[in-house]
Amino acid sequence: MASHSDQMKPVEFTLFEKAQLKMVPNKLKILLLLMAVVVVANAVTVAADYVRPPPRKNLQFPWDPKPSSQPQQVHVSLAGDKHIRVTWITSKSSSPSLVEYGTSPGKYTSRSHGESTSYSYLFYTSGTIHHTVIGPLEHNTVYYYKCGGKGPEFSLKTPPSEFPITLAVAGDLGQTGWTKSTLDHIDLCQYDLHLLPGDLSYADYIQSKWDTFGELVEPLASARPWMVTQGNHEKENIPFIKDGFESYNARWKMPYEESGSMSNLYYSFEVAGAHVVMLGSYTDYDVNSEQYNWLKADLSTVDRKKTPWLLALFHVPWYNSNYAHQGEGDDMMEAMEPLLHAAGVDLVFSGHVHAYERTKRVYNGKSNPCGAVHVTIGDGGNKEGLAQKYKEPSPEWSVFREASFGHGELKIVNSSHAFWSWHRNDDDEPVKSDEVWITSLITSNCVATKETKQA
Ligand SMILES: *[C@@H]1O[C@H](CO)[C@@H](O)[C@H](O)[C@H]1NC(C)=O
Ligand SMILES: [Fe+2]
Repeated sequence: MASHSDQMKPVEFTLFEKAQLKMVPNKLKILLLLMAVVVVANAVTVAADYVRPPPRKNLQFPWDPKPSSQPQQVHVSLAGDKHIRVTWITSKSSSPSLVEYGTSPGKYTSRSHGESTSYSYLFYTSGTIHHTVIGPLEHNTVYYYKCGGKGPEFSLKTPPSEFPITLAVAGDLGQTGWTKSTLDHIDLCQYDLHLLPGDLSYADYIQSKWDTFGELVEPLASARPWMVTQGNHEKENIPFIKDGFESYNARWKMPYEESGSMSNLYYSFEVAGAHVVMLGSYTDYDVNSEQYNWLKADLSTVDRKKTPWLLALFHVPWYNSNYAHQGEGDDMMEAMEPLLHAAGVDLVFSGHVHAYERTKRVYNGKSNPCGAVHVTIGDGGNKEGLAQKYKEPSPEWSVFREASFGHGELKIVNSSHAFWSWHRNDDDEPVKSDEVWITSLITSNCVATKETKQA
């Protein structure tokens, strides 16, 4: 698969890493060189046929290490019904994977112990990564919690059990001035859960950037569940040495076990009245693959009376009229679109293309009243800038397209109606540059017709 980068970029090393380089034996230097070659080779496989405006620089993080047992990079995610997984990192391995929590500040009436892991990547060794599931929790309730018995108190709000629910959506975040702007905008809206269709940190092999990303998103990600899937920038593989996704899997553990999946790269969850499938664009998806079989089984369990809305997320868009990344999603689409269509998926979110685009309901390359609305929302603000060049004329299925940084909000009002809006970073948060009411497929004959057919 091709890398996201459209320009060749030198592999960056921090001063600390440069100092380490001087001290390493030749064998390891060769490995590093190999790694650099992989990065550059990936970069040149994508033609630079569109011009992006100047991206903003990566934010500078004064690396002010917290005391070694203090929790860092705290984030939370859903972990099955009424449960939340709390993830944090300490630099001291003896720190317990303990979360104390309760509904009043400073009064922790419950406690849970979890698991911890760590990983090494060339010369980098991660801190201890703790994953602790808490619950059962009440719905729509604020909980105060402390990680590892140390450090500051955090608070989170659990999602509601029924509509309305608001989902914030932004992909391809990175850690630039634009990322900060996107997060600040999302922070201003009232939402219950963040959906991220891939490309998180843009660490791109420099592992310490996973840590700075974790710190950057902590204020939001410790307060609302962040449900993520992976993009190409998470695939930090080095041939013969490292499989991809090691850092991503260690740090962003999602409820795959809870949803019967064998891999952290694809899973599903239910929130209020929505069933959400999170898929992997960079893992096998053909009809004989584990992912395909898991998806088929997962979709067969969906009860539209309980979850009238059915959503899917993955990184590489299937309906994209931008010149960037044309055709990259075709193989996955060919394999999996029939499954999603048969199940009556309402909405699909993807990223990868650094711009915003919304389609009509589509299936098999054409608008179709029983198809899904596809939204490309890879405009979270990463260091690569925007993808500005669109194919002309606009395809009949494309409703709105624009290359600006921003985020989306999906407010599911009830079983039949949801309000989607897209908000540019250049505007005040309440300004909606694109907005549409979407009615669920269960209110049309589409889903019912299929049930009748099967019967
Ligand atoms: C669902 O919400 C829409 C938009 O507010 C409203 O028009 C409709 O009547 C609601 N339907 C039900 C069944 O409450
Ligand atoms: Fe991407």
